[in-house]
Amino acid sequence: MKGVILAGGTGTRLRPLTNLMNKHLLPVGRFPMIHYGIKKMADAGIKNILLVIGKQSAGLYLDYLGSGKEFGVRLTYKLQDQAGGIAEALSLASEFISTGEKFVVLLGDNLFNDSLLPYVKEFHEQPQGAKVLLKQVPDPRRYGVPIIKGTRITTIIEKPQDPPTSYCVTGIYMYDSQVFELVDKIHPSSRGELEITDVNNLFAAMGTLTYNVLSGWWMDAGTLESLHEAGSKLLHGE
Ligand code: DAU
Repeated sequence: MKGVILAGGTGTRLRPLTNLMNKHLLPVGRFPMIHYGIKKMADAGIKNILLVIGKQSAGLYLDYLGSGKEFGVRLTYKLQDQAGGIAEALSLASEFISTGEKFVVLLGDNLFNDSLLPYVKEFHEQPQGAKVLLKQVPDPRRYGVPIIKGTRITTIIEKPQDPPTSYCVTGIYMYDSQVFELVDKIHPSSRGELEITDVNNLFAAMGTLTYNVLSGWWMDAGTLESLHEAGSKLLHGE
């Protein structure tokens, strides 16, 4: 299976640090943030990876990751001109993925402990559709929150004021190539972005959105507090 890591976006919540450098290159523990996503994919046997980056710090990605050889992977880079949303960044992978192919997507600011391997294997067996990984969190209002029925998700509510559960949808997604047709069907949200939650909700409406719950720790390192907490966990080998 191929992998896609989305590392565009503006990182506004981490200003002024992100005035200097793109969020995904900031140090977390011993390494720049982007290191961990590449490593997670490599460890799960995903060796062919597309990295979507913004213009900011584009050369620094090459300085650090190069061709991916040191990680044992093959990296392809694609530039997202403007931060048009996670689903817009994902659409840039359409030429990288063949028709009928399945692939794994990581948001570059998601850091976690679990191996991707068991989830990838399970998705491999899934006839069609998508899978998202969930985690119980103290403040689900910051995230997409799923409504679950048995083994399927029926709806995801993006950043709800009054979350129906304490689970959130993490930025670890698995799709078949149908996802690109679905991205074409959605429209920009009130914040002017193509939202990944709208895409996932189209799979949910077709009854093909499955889930698993991560067993280890998970963090979205998009705020200063979470960046430091993740850094401390990674540094101390948790
Ligand atoms: O972290 C999990 C959450 O990520 C989910 O629970 C939400 O459903 C999902 O919408 C997303 O929410 P965020 O508000 O945290 O997304 P953010 O805008 O911070 O973007 C997350 C990553 O996506 C970031 O590492 C870079 C990438 N990205 C984002 C945008 C807006 C891009 O590559 N391009 C973009 O245009």
